[in-house]
Amino acid sequence: MQVVTVLLILFFCRSAEFRRAKNGGLKSRVNMAVPRAFRRSTVKRFAAAECKEYSELNEKYLDCQDRKLTRVSTHWPEDILHMLLARNRIQRLEDDMFARFKHLKSLDLQQNDISVIDERAFAGLNKLTTLLLQHNRLQVVTEEVFIFLPQLKYMRIYENPWDCSCELDGLVRKLQVPSNRNLGNYAKCVWPKNLKDQKLKKIKPELLCPELEGIDPNQPQNQVIGPAFVIKEVDSTMCHTYMFPNILLDCHNKDLKNVPADIPPDAVKIDLSGNKIKHLKSKEFVGVKDLKILNLSSNALEYIDTVAFSGLLQLRELDLSNNALHYIEYGVLEDLYFVQNLWVGNNPWRCDYNIHYLDYWLKHHRSVQHTGLICTTPEEFKGWSVYNYVKSYNEECPKEKLISQTDTTQDGDADEEEVEERPTNQPQHLIGPKEKDMYTFIRLT
Ligand SMILES: *[C@@H]1O[C@H](CO)[C@@H](O)[C@H](O)[C@H]1NC(C)=O
Repeated sequence: MQVVTVLLILFFCRSAEFRRAKNGGLKSRVNMAVPRAFRRSTVKRFAAAECKEYSELNEKYLDCQDRKLTRVSTHWPEDILHMLLARNRIQRLEDDMFARFKHLKSLDLQQNDISVIDERAFAGLNKLTTLLLQHNRLQVVTEEVFIFLPQLKYMRIYENPWDCSCELDGLVRKLQVPSNRNLGNYAKCVWPKNLKDQKLKKIKPELLCPELEGIDPNQPQNQVIGPAFVIKEVDSTMCHTYMFPNILLDCHNKDLKNVPADIPPDAVKIDLSGNKIKHLKSKEFVGVKDLKILNLSSNALEYIDTVAFSGLLQLRELDLSNNALHYIEYGVLEDLYFVQNLWVGNNPWRCDYNIHYLDYWLKHHRSVQHTGLICTTPEEFKGWSVYNYVKSYNEECPKEKLISQTDTTQDGDADEEEVEERPTNQPQHLIGPKEKDMYTFIRLT
């Protein structure tokens, strides 16, 4: 009996301690102020929640991306201009949540679980120009929310399950004001069924409240709106847009068959790798003037239109590796003055006359680093570098070799000498039987 009592007491003491530790952990998560006694047990959690602070061009950034955060900490510095909270677990934007960060110019909340924005959530953000809310769970947002954002110029809200009901009327009307052209692009209704896939930017606001407008909600609304067939264009909502440190459109592995038609014009990097794009059409990237990195690797590219890259004067890196290119059309690379790196490996380059353009362009852009330009067909040149192929093509009859061959009766010796003189990838037709044919021919003339 005594033993049992002692055991019981021990057990209760243990569990009390355990409870205390748990409360401590919880408290410190909320307040970020760790009582000394609990520091040891919570170090790990803090390490995960710690954010990175840095400056770029004299603007302060706080990078708290990918940290499983559910809320904003009271310990974050107040003078930051850019707050990066992408890919956390925030569910609700509560009243005055950002009120202390009065200098904020941009707020990145994409890829969280936000389903509710309280009316005063953005109170105090008088200077905010950029708000990113794409890839969340928002169904409705009231117009009042935006009263606190007088400077808002740029807002992304696509990939949210928008419920195009009466409640959304205010937001939709706001998005459709012509001067708000960078607010809410690409966002689409998910509900109700008859408005599914309509863009918030384009939908007739009257349709949101059919009861008020006396419209029969059961009637298919496409007829009212316009074309019965909606042409499916590829848009970039399937991709993720990252704002910092540069604007990056990440469309990696998205099963795309075409380049999105609505690339943000200020994108600096576009990753289209791992898709199923076969053709690059003319002027696909024409509005994207600042583009520096374009990744098209691992697609099914067979053909690039002559003006597909037109206007990409700033492009520095172009990745065309792992595609199905046989050659590059004359002129395709003409606008790419500043390319530094070109990846072209793992393409079935065909070494015939069409390949000369690429070689020619590279010769005139000697600073371009490039890899993987190897002939795959025809069989004759398989494995050769395109450079050597073109060189052999252009090579005139090497006179001194012809002379040395006429001088010697021992063909075998002459061949050996030549092998030493030439790079290993020398053209077969100059050392094989063909050369002898040529030699014979010349002698006859
Ligand atoms: C392009 O994407 C592939 C696959 O994601 C990656 O391996 C490659 O490094 C990228 N190229 C550039 C230039 O970033």
